[in-house]
Amino acid sequence: MKFYVTTPIYYVNDVPTVGHAYTTIACDVLARYHRLRGDEVLFTTGTDENALKVVRAAEAQGIEPKPFADDMADRFRQEWRELDISYDDFIRTTEERQHRAVQVFFDSLYRSGDLYVGKYEGWYCVSDETYFREEELIEGRCPNPECGKKVEWMSEPAHFFRLSKYEQALLEQIGRDPGWLLPEFRKNEVVNFIRGGLRDVCISRHSDWGIPMPSTVPDSEGAVIYVWVDALVNYLTCAGYPDDRDRFEHYWPADVHVMAKDIFVRFHASMWPAMLMSAGLPLPKRIVAHGWWTQGGEKISKSRGGAVPRPGPVLEMLMEETGCSRPRAVDALRYYMLRQVPFGQDGEFTGEGLLIRYADDLANDLGNLLHRVLPMIRRYRQGLIPAPCQAEPELHDAAKAAAGGWDKAVSTLDFRGGLEVIWEFLGAANRYVDHKAPWALAKSGDDAALDRVLYAAAEAIRIAACLVAPVMPSTSDEIERQLGLEGWERRWPQASEWGLLPGGATIGQSERLFPRADAAKSKASPGEHTAPKSSTSAGKEAMISLKEFQKLELRVGEIVSAERVPNADKLLKLSVDLGEETRTMVAGIALSYKPEELVGRSVVVVANLEPATIRGVRSEGMILAGWVEGDDQSIAIVTPDRPVPKGSVVS
Ligand code: MSP
Repeated sequence: MKFYVTTPIYYVNDVPTVGHAYTTIACDVLARYHRLRGDEVLFTTGTDENALKVVRAAEAQGIEPKPFADDMADRFRQEWRELDISYDDFIRTTEERQHRAVQVFFDSLYRSGDLYVGKYEGWYCVSDETYFREEELIEGRCPNPECGKKVEWMSEPAHFFRLSKYEQALLEQIGRDPGWLLPEFRKNEVVNFIRGGLRDVCISRHSDWGIPMPSTVPDSEGAVIYVWVDALVNYLTCAGYPDDRDRFEHYWPADVHVMAKDIFVRFHASMWPAMLMSAGLPLPKRIVAHGWWTQGGEKISKSRGGAVPRPGPVLEMLMEETGCSRPRAVDALRYYMLRQVPFGQDGEFTGEGLLIRYADDLANDLGNLLHRVLPMIRRYRQGLIPAPCQAEPELHDAAKAAAGGWDKAVSTLDFRGGLEVIWEFLGAANRYVDHKAPWALAKSGDDAALDRVLYAAAEAIRIAACLVAPVMPSTSDEIERQLGLEGWERRWPQASEWGLLPGGATIGQSERLFPRADAAKSKASPGEHTAPKSSTSAGKEAMISLKEFQKLELRVGEIVSAERVPNADKLLKLSVDLGEETRTMVAGIALSYKPEELVGRSVVVVANLEPATIRGVRSEGMILAGWVEGDDQSIAIVTPDRPVPKGSVVS
């Protein structure tokens, strides 16, 4: 199966914002997902350079449009490399192949009788590259609520495309193919727009910047083709139009055009299909509009001025706040954008929202699973994956549901819904580990059961890595490396197939994927990670079984650093070395211990306690301590009375 997906081609009057990144990331996820399924993918993006606003932007910098556009196109490419965008083709509308395609396409509109020469008199908004009628203007300005700029009067002989002729055909197409325009509520906007009456569109301009009109068309002298006709044709050019017939027949029609709502109704869902009908070419199979990313409720846009969030600085912020590597920050941004808002809706972009997703979903749910399971394989099985076991139903069913749910969600571009089902699976995997308590099995010496649990947990991690690969490609690679699967060929049907993780493989070196952010905010309710102040004598009903007790993972650790938590008299922030890893813990012992007295001390910690954020500090375990007899202000930490190796289990 072939799969052809396109982003809009972006104007080069400024560098990309997170808004441009969003569409491009969404298309990248589609492309990667289809490649994983074995489809032959064509994923295209590029830059729209023949617009008047590009000339104005170049003028403002005192350079010629072409070198200006060259530089900006490079910056777009650079940004997409940075965000791990796997496009197959990057088209610039100033390229020769685009000039040829646009001229051939324009000529075919002419030959179909849908082009005529008239006179254009009216208002033009340079920012939107759109013509408006007098009555459409709002106080003499562009009626687009996101623009509102001054319009310019244009009066020139012009070429028109008979858009009005296609009203009926467009409405029929929309009625015939219910999934053609998505989301549903935007489809209705298109229907209303068309029913309101389509006007013929002026598709020429007099300028020396743009693609010259073919000489076969009357009055073509000195005219260039309207930038929107030029831009839309890029989708054909990338598929091989007009000269590479085999390629074109293979890839066209596009499977999906993706864009934001701003260029959906008028351009992609009306003008573009009408022009394709006129040229006798098949229509794209699906046209999808997402919402806007906003800041302070307003669309994030380079033309708005002020501080616009751009991917680079957002990644820097994330790395600084969390200590994560650049590839992890890239994947966290990709994840956040797709998980945060339902596709089609607007969403407010905030650094805080990104940090919360990072802490809760990535560091906790995904990272935790890996960092609990792999150290146990190292500790209990010398780093060798145990032999494959039969599918554990609670894990395998959840994996199948996640793969099926993701398939279904991707087909309607419901990325948020798709990620939710994958995260349900991660929840099931974490619960499985809690419930099976492998540390307790290790203690009790039940080797067969321990092998099964460790294998099943590692297999769940492999499946999770495959499921999240389209969204977080480099994180999936890293998880597979840590599992000892470097060079493993990931394929979609394998995602939920049980037992593919080879037994006997040696796991790779562990590295914390998503370090826990000190500053990351957590939804987890704050609670101090110290022993409760008063101990009640347990009544019979409060008794726990041995099995329940064995769920507790108590370990010996060594305090390697200690410091006060600002603005909290009782709290110390400790780094505790547990042998395999060092964790941050917050303990309410500052009234009893000076930080420097604690360094080098052995402590007993609850290592499998759910993390919590206390005064902005993420605490990943609890130090055991008790109240000193006769002094209810003083706390004594619990220490082994002879040296015990770091990481040892306390039972
Ligand atoms: N050049 C035209 C598109 C021609 S396609 C044949 C254009 N360029 S643009 O630079 O203005 O890009 C608009 C597109 O960028 C939107 O449709 C959307 O894909 C993306 N976005 C830019 N800002 C955005 C947000 N704030 N939010 C969501 N998407 C945003 O229009």
